[in-house]
Amino acid sequence: MNDKTSTQQSSGIPGKDYPSIVQDKCTKCGICLKVCPTMAYEMRDDQVVIVRSEMCIKCGHCGATCPANAIIESFSVPEGIPASHLDSPSFPNALQLLFRSRRSVRRYKKQPLAREDLEKILEAGRYTATGTNAQTINYIVITDPEKIDELRTIALPVVMKMFAFIGKVVSMPFSSHLMGDEVRERMKNRYVPGMQLLYERQMQGEDRIFYDAPAIMLVTGEKYDETQAFSCAAALYNCSLMAHTLGIGCCFNGFLQTSVNFNKKLKKWMGIPKTQKCYGAMTLGYPNVKYTRLVKRNPARVRWI
Ligand SMILES: Cc1cc2nc3c(=O)[nH]c(=O)nc-3n(C[C@H](O)[C@H](O)[C@H](O)COP(=O)(O)O)c2cc1C
Repeated sequence: MNDKTSTQQSSGIPGKDYPSIVQDKCTKCGICLKVCPTMAYEMRDDQVVIVRSEMCIKCGHCGATCPANAIIESFSVPEGIPASHLDSPSFPNALQLLFRSRRSVRRYKKQPLAREDLEKILEAGRYTATGTNAQTINYIVITDPEKIDELRTIALPVVMKMFAFIGKVVSMPFSSHLMGDEVRERMKNRYVPGMQLLYERQMQGEDRIFYDAPAIMLVTGEKYDETQAFSCAAALYNCSLMAHTLGIGCCFNGFLQTSVNFNKKLKKWMGIPKTQKCYGAMTLGYPNVKYTRLVKRNPARVRWI
């Protein structure tokens, strides 16, 4: 495919490169009217016309579905989707196995990650759906061991402070109202003492925060946009799945995500602008552990309406 490999992102702000229609080729089937999420197309005087080009979010749906190839736009690639195992009846099972075999890896080899593998992982994030096709997810990738050490030193007291605060809150009588009994009990009996143990182990030289990972990845997005949390999390998850296929283990890191948002100094150290929030973080590395069995999970909590 002719798509450029780049970590640069589009701003999502419509530019001059709006789609246009080659009227000679257009069969007036009207599929572009149906797939366009922003209603930019209309049928007027028996012709398909673009009446609201300024609304275009550059999603490429019109060009990618036009059976007559009558739409000129630069957001979909000219080549068709390659026929592949995607069409195979075994694909859903293979995908399910990918989901089930992905594990949170907490033991890593010291070996640094190959840059090309990290690029492939970022590529997976690039194709994630984003609200209004904004594509404004920002990635921070830390691979310098000295920087990771520095980050660990800054993050640990922040994490401990956060849990000390949570410890105080869950001991107060109103906390049940605030978070419900189930969460309160979990916080009080598991997370807060767990953090104390983590701290002790950390002090004994075990890295219970980043697991001595050779790489850390964070995703950040603009706070004002409600959809960014989902877009960022979905992108990071796609990255983690791609990593899994490349034999790279990941572990999402709520400690880092929360402490970056909780602590201005840490946020500044990361170079995250005030307008943004961290919506996900994970450690990455070649696994030093092998999972030979799958795990069970609770049934989905579903309400069919
Ligand atoms: C949002 C999020 C935050 C997490 N934060 C941490 C973390 O800070 N440290 C850690 O060791 N694991 C963390 N995990 C990993 C979970 O503990 C793990 O996903 C869960 O136990 C299920 O195990 P699995 O991922 O191997 O299926 C996090 C997972 C998610 C989704």
